[in-house]
Amino acid sequence: MSNAFVARSLDEIRFWSRIMKEHSLFLKLGFRCEDTQLINEANQFYSLFEGIERQAHSHTVATDPEQIQRFNVEVRNAAAHIWAFKRKVLGLVLSCQMPGANNFPLLIDHTSREANYFKNRLEQLNSGKLDPLPDAIINENVFFLRIMADHAKFIGHLLDPSERQLVEQARNFSHDFDQLLFQAQDLDSMRPQSQTVSLLDQFLDENRVSVKSLRDFKKTARDLIEACRIKSIIHPLLADHVFREAERFLTIIDMFEQSLASVKSK
Ligand SMILES: [Fe+2]
Ligand SMILES: [Fe+2]
Repeated sequence: MSNAFVARSLDEIRFWSRIMKEHSLFLKLGFRCEDTQLINEANQFYSLFEGIERQAHSHTVATDPEQIQRFNVEVRNAAAHIWAFKRKVLGLVLSCQMPGANNFPLLIDHTSREANYFKNRLEQLNSGKLDPLPDAIINENVFFLRIMADHAKFIGHLLDPSERQLVEQARNFSHDFDQLLFQAQDLDSMRPQSQTVSLLDQFLDENRVSVKSLRDFKKTARDLIEACRIKSIIHPLLADHVFREAERFLTIIDMFEQSLASVKSK
């Protein structure tokens, strides 16, 4: 347990606790007025992750690693709870017990996958069992490419249908990312033979180009929504949220590129 462990843990918790906090808000906004119990639960999760976020910012890299290890367990449990809440809501929507509610099932499933990712990450950090680089590259890309493909679908469906050009652009991104995801899954099934430095390097290059252009599209959409220049039912915070998740993916790709470069030069 070291400074690197503390820094890594705090970085994950600062990023994902804000994301979990915002999911609670988005879920709440999609509930019906009479779903008071669910609204209360969503509010509780909002406060829970707001507290965690604040606590994560109060620590520094100098914090005792053992204290961070305990904090990781606490946050991991919170992530497990919000995951269960999301799956419960998904069950209600899919069994048609919430007619007229406004959360797409895929969006609920998507946010539960993000909670599960967060939970696994904290478990990995605490157990010291991080994936070896070639596995991490494929696993993270398979996870994030699907997340990006989903975002394009949500944007396409939440824009007003009269925003024909933007809807079309979102649909194209959805298609591109579905293709990239299939490619990533192919590389995954060809493991370990597919894990050569040159194939992984090319894989990252290709994904980076597409993620950058999706990130730019999200940024434009976010700015237009904030300035009230386009018609949609996208909350400005949701537009910013998906933009930040694309930025996160880009940071991860860059980190992998650097690690691969150092493998290559050895
Ligand atoms: Fe999210
Ligand atoms: Fe997302």
